[in-house]
Amino acid sequence: LCHALHINIDFWVEPANRLKGSGQYAKLPPVKITDSLLQDHRAIEQMLGTIGVMCANMETGRGINTEHLRIAMEWIRDFKGDWHLTREENILFPALTNAGAKPHCTIGDILDEHKREREQFMYMAKAAAGLHGTRPDANKTFCRYSKEYIDLIRTHIRQEEKELYPLANKLLDESKQKDIRLACQKLEEKMGKQWLARMMDILKQLSAAYPSK
Ligand SMILES: [Fe+2]
Ligand SMILES: [Fe+2]
Repeated sequence: LCHALHINIDFWVEPANRLKGSGQYAKLPPVKITDSLLQDHRAIEQMLGTIGVMCANMETGRGINTEHLRIAMEWIRDFKGDWHLTREENILFPALTNAGAKPHCTIGDILDEHKREREQFMYMAKAAAGLHGTRPDANKTFCRYSKEYIDLIRTHIRQEEKELYPLANKLLDESKQKDIRLACQKLEEKMGKQWLARMMDILKQLSAAYPSK
């Protein structure tokens, strides 16, 4: 059976956007940046699970639709790369540094890890593109890289939720959170109308096509 989708799309839609002109903005409970980033993490983990199922299918000879894999790689590139990492690196980290966090401690470690993640993603995406060819070991190569990638991201997510996000909750007061919400909203506008809803739709469809046992 396909596993339930635990993602609430509305969570990402900034209140000002959602209720533009309705005069209710001030009444909405303010969303903390870390709560919003946690939702990203849950979505990313769900896609990693789906990629894991694709690998299991390849390894047991059931095979997969390589178009689905291409879409999964694009999703990771866009949602994890363009959206989530931008929110962390360009919005959260500068806000934390301004609020007094030491840039070379936790933030420095996380930035190093992001670099590793980007490199590992390139290997995995390249291996995924190789599946369209005729090399007999292409499946094995892809599964090896994707397992490394999945492990890397899962560990990274755990570390952020253990160290970085609690630090953010401690250092960022409501006025700083408000600035962050505005910056996130600007980024969302840049990504395009309905972009997040489209990302969640892809996640839902791929999760249903490759359910975990
Ligand atoms: Fe991160
Ligand atoms: Fe993260």
